[in-house]
Amino acid sequence: MPAFRHLLSPGRINGMTLRNRIFFTPMGSNLAEEGGFSGEKLKDYYEERARGGAALITMGSVSIGYPEGASNWRQEAISDDRYIPGIRAIADAVHAHGAKLAVQLHHAGLLAMHDMLEGRPLACPSPPQASKDSGDFVDVMLEEEQARFFEPYATMGEVKYDALSAQQIERIVQMFADAADRAKRAGVDAVEVHAGHGYIFSSFLSPAYNRRTDEYGGSVENRARFLLDTIKAIRAAVGPNYPVWMRFDSQEFLMDNGITVEDAKAVALLAERAGLDAIHVSAHGDGNRGATYSTGHATDIRNGFVANAAAIKAAISIPVICPGRIEPEDADRFIAEGKLDFVTMGRKLLADPHLPNKLAAGTPDKVRPCIYCYTCISNIFNSKHVICAVNPLTGYERERAQYPAERRKTIVVVGGGPGGLESARLLANKGHKVILCEASSRLGGTAQFASVAYEPNQRIVDWLKNEVARADIDVRLNARVTPELIASLKPDQVIVATGAKRTMPAIPGGNRDFVFSGDDMRNLVLGQNLESLRGKTSGITRTAMKMGAITGATGKLEVLRRASKVWMPIGKRVVIIGGELVGLELAEFLAARDRTVTVLEEGTRVGKGLQLVRRFRVIDECRHLGVAMLTQVSDVRIGDHLVTYTNEDQQQRTIAADTVIVAKGATGDLSLAEAIERLGYPVATVGDCTGVGYIEGAMRDAALAVQTI
Ligand SMILES: Cc1cc2nc3c(=O)[nH]c(=O)nc-3n(C[C@H](O)[C@H](O)[C@H](O)COP(=O)(O)OP(=O)(O)OC[C@H]3O[C@@H](n4cnc5c(N)ncnc54)[C@H](O)[C@@H]3O)c2cc1C
Ligand SMILES: Cc1cc2nc3c(=O)[nH]c(=O)nc-3n(C[C@H](O)[C@H](O)[C@H](O)COP(=O)(O)O)c2cc1C
Ligand code: SF4
Repeated sequence: MPAFRHLLSPGRINGMTLRNRIFFTPMGSNLAEEGGFSGEKLKDYYEERARGGAALITMGSVSIGYPEGASNWRQEAISDDRYIPGIRAIADAVHAHGAKLAVQLHHAGLLAMHDMLEGRPLACPSPPQASKDSGDFVDVMLEEEQARFFEPYATMGEVKYDALSAQQIERIVQMFADAADRAKRAGVDAVEVHAGHGYIFSSFLSPAYNRRTDEYGGSVENRARFLLDTIKAIRAAVGPNYPVWMRFDSQEFLMDNGITVEDAKAVALLAERAGLDAIHVSAHGDGNRGATYSTGHATDIRNGFVANAAAIKAAISIPVICPGRIEPEDADRFIAEGKLDFVTMGRKLLADPHLPNKLAAGTPDKVRPCIYCYTCISNIFNSKHVICAVNPLTGYERERAQYPAERRKTIVVVGGGPGGLESARLLANKGHKVILCEASSRLGGTAQFASVAYEPNQRIVDWLKNEVARADIDVRLNARVTPELIASLKPDQVIVATGAKRTMPAIPGGNRDFVFSGDDMRNLVLGQNLESLRGKTSGITRTAMKMGAITGATGKLEVLRRASKVWMPIGKRVVIIGGELVGLELAEFLAARDRTVTVLEEGTRVGKGLQLVRRFRVIDECRHLGVAMLTQVSDVRIGDHLVTYTNEDQQQRTIAADTVIVAKGATGDLSLAEAIERLGYPVATVGDCTGVGYIEGAMRDAALAVQTI
């Protein structure tokens, strides 16, 4: 039986036929032009996903009242006929590649940032009650993020609320119907009503937000009345044959009195009876809690909403569309089992818009994987446009496009981490002759260590290695590049991607045998340079790690991760000095392996380097695992299995430690690049050697460097 037979089989919603079951999920991108217009940037972004083979592209969060009811910085609008030409251009571009286009009709209600900033009251069922718990949003944000996030609100007056009257509700119903009619006139194939994620309909559906006692509050039927009136008005505007569906919360997590799956089933049935053609399942939670954004709609949990989708599907007879970290093989199975009909993919198609075509071509291993780092959605929180950490072209489809080289050059790429691998891959695709030199015996660089700490990173390492193996690249392992080596190779150009330099900060007692630097940890985990660990680990440990390295076990990161659950040469009580990305990921990894972990961070916040939405998640998980995360810590000293420090209240404290890990001190290192340049060779620098920029920075640098060669 052909792979992905069910996922790739055609589908139908109302009269619309779809070439497969994969939809590009609605995602606010902040790629619109000033004033909410859909321009070239948006067109390029959506067109690329259509070219990649998705059956349907959804324009995410398109404002029906712009600027009224709009939430995002650069949100696209459909509130006036002036917006039709831009949307029509997108429809034409998407159609040219055989895909269909839907528009997600959106009014943000309580979350309408534009209303807040422009002094309009926020549309809601009832004014929200002051919460006893203000959540962790502000505490987790870095100071620079807070400044960016709150700056627009600095001159804003008091927030006002409009508990909508029946007349006001009628007006918004008409705005949705007019917008749907506009979409149809713009050549759009379908509309989706955004009824989830804390926005206007979601606040009416949620018992936690809707405290009305009139016909719009109380029972499920009453809470759904506004939504159902809207569906009926849209149906009247677009006619019986035009596909209309809604996206809504199948559940509200992390809060009391939120929407339940039973509520959702009832609402779905009412919506079907009101004239909907399909139901798109999602979820939300308490918007004040950071973990909501990786528990609700952009879930961190594989197949996070499938059980809810299946329960809803059993209650209705129209198709069910389901998102939420669904791998293609899972999607295929769920469709076969009748749990859902269509799958929406968001992050996977940001990472690789051509996923559907690659499945159809029988090459799923060529799909560039998402690493669930949440850079994309964190950018939306930070009022920037969408990007993807592993795909530098996302949001820059035209600006960063790579074209075949005019002249084939010989290029030496130094370093086999993400930056070097991506550079080599792109250069070979352009037609250059590439020599990739890696000092160690394995490709992957520091990202191999990063993959032990956070499993999804392994996927991009594997993908890069496979792509490099497939390409015509001269890969040289155990090849430490020196200026002399470059002089002997005489390349036209050198790309230096040698990673960060990790120096041990001057911490009193830092030379004790239970203190591990970043390099010590990397060597220990990867079974490399084990002799440098003499005195810190027993001979037995070093032999075991060496055997692992020789037999390939520590080269297989999954084996390492599993083995580390049983045995790891790290003591029971661990103190990690440095609470940025690396410190926190290690803390989570070790705490999940039964270590008692304390993180000491000198700054005011932990988690720098983690993107906001992932930082919320990691901090939340660390808290659940009992990790103590202390900030504004100074004067750290290491004694005999003790660490002393001064806490934020200027009190001196001491904790016991069997192992101390120093997770700081990584800086850029351009010494090799400068030495090669002095010989007269053109050099481009990529990745952490220019300053720690993580996987996103390494991939971006590679794309920008290769574009100019
Ligand atoms: C524990 C841990 C967890 C992390 N988690 C994440 C995460 O979740 N997300 C994220 O984005 N980032 C994470 N990082 C950071 C990420 O791994 C790096 O930012 C990324 O690998 C940088 O890529 P790079 O190609 O610039 O350098 P590296 O990956 O460091 O690769 C540089 C390569 O160059 C080689 N090299 C050096 N000198 C020479 C020479 N002279 N000749 C030949 N080869 C040479 C090195 O051997 C190495 O293989 C983590 C790091 C650590 C330590
Ligand atoms: C950058 C980004 C923006 C999003 N914006 C929206 C949006 O505007 N409307 C919406 O309904 N969901 C939005 N979502 C949620 C996605 O539609 C989707 O449900 C989520 O990403 C989970 O699916 P995935 O695992 O395939 O990415 C957004 C998600 C991301 C990552
Ligand atoms: S930015 Fe990260 S989470 Fe978002 S799509 Fe790209 S890899 Fe996935």
